[in-house]
Amino acid sequence: MSILSKHKFIETNATLLLVLSFLVVTIGGLVQIVPLFYLENTIEKVEGMRPYSPLELAGRDIYVREGCYVCHSQMIRPMRDEVERYGHYSLAAESMYDHPFQWGSKRTGPDLARVGGRYSDDWHLDHLRDPQSVVPESIMPKYGFLERKLIEADHIADLLRTHRLVGVPYTDEMIDAAAEDFEAQADPDSDYDALLERYPGAQVRNFDGQAGISEADAVIAYLQMLGTLVDFSTFTPDASR
Ligand code: HEC
Repeated sequence: MSILSKHKFIETNATLLLVLSFLVVTIGGLVQIVPLFYLENTIEKVEGMRPYSPLELAGRDIYVREGCYVCHSQMIRPMRDEVERYGHYSLAAESMYDHPFQWGSKRTGPDLARVGGRYSDDWHLDHLRDPQSVVPESIMPKYGFLERKLIEADHIADLLRTHRLVGVPYTDEMIDAAAEDFEAQADPDSDYDALLERYPGAQVRNFDGQAGISEADAVIAYLQMLGTLVDFSTFTPDASR
């Protein structure tokens, strides 16, 4: 009996085919799944990654609330056209503190994973107010109300605490200082050394240029840090994994 006719025997015998398919899928499944239980971590540690500062985290919350992810992805795939347009492909570690992650599945607008530093704060402010004023063909909605809505720091410690519950390594010190750090980051005249020690690389500015902390301050602080934490001029993937 040639191998083909043996296979014909299996294919014409439904019960045998079912049993053997089940066996093959089981073995395949075990080979894929079992090793995952023995790996401590599937995310490579990358220098520079840190949890979001309180102001950035508040901005991220507004980003999620406004559904920005419906039109914007935050995941640069390792394909040449994407890397040339958006920069280094996204690393798993870059979204390790994202709950929920913002990878997105649709790009009506461009990917935002590395939009940080690409434009000035003023550009973002104009763009949020009226996208068509800076990109005439834009179909992005206006978000001018963000700069008119002032936000207080009263829930920010709870927000950090909630993220700690799902695994973000916020320390007690970070939670205690959350309200202080939240305000310091939007005020260049504040004493922000401690903020920078807790959140290296955090950008301290009056993002929306007006008094008080608005939702626009938080969103722009968030947008301006996206993709800026890892220094890709020195980053080399860990080949031992
Ligand atoms: C209906 C779809 C849609 C929604 C919702 C949307 N955007 Fe956009 N966005 C776009 C489009 C299209 C562009 C490209 C044209 C432009 O720059 O305005 C864009 C561009 C951008 C850019 C410039 C990116 C670049 O690299 O040039 C930023 C930043 C941005 N959006 C932020 C946001 C934020 C923040 C929100 C939520 C508050 C949001 N967008 C919601 C469609 C959308």
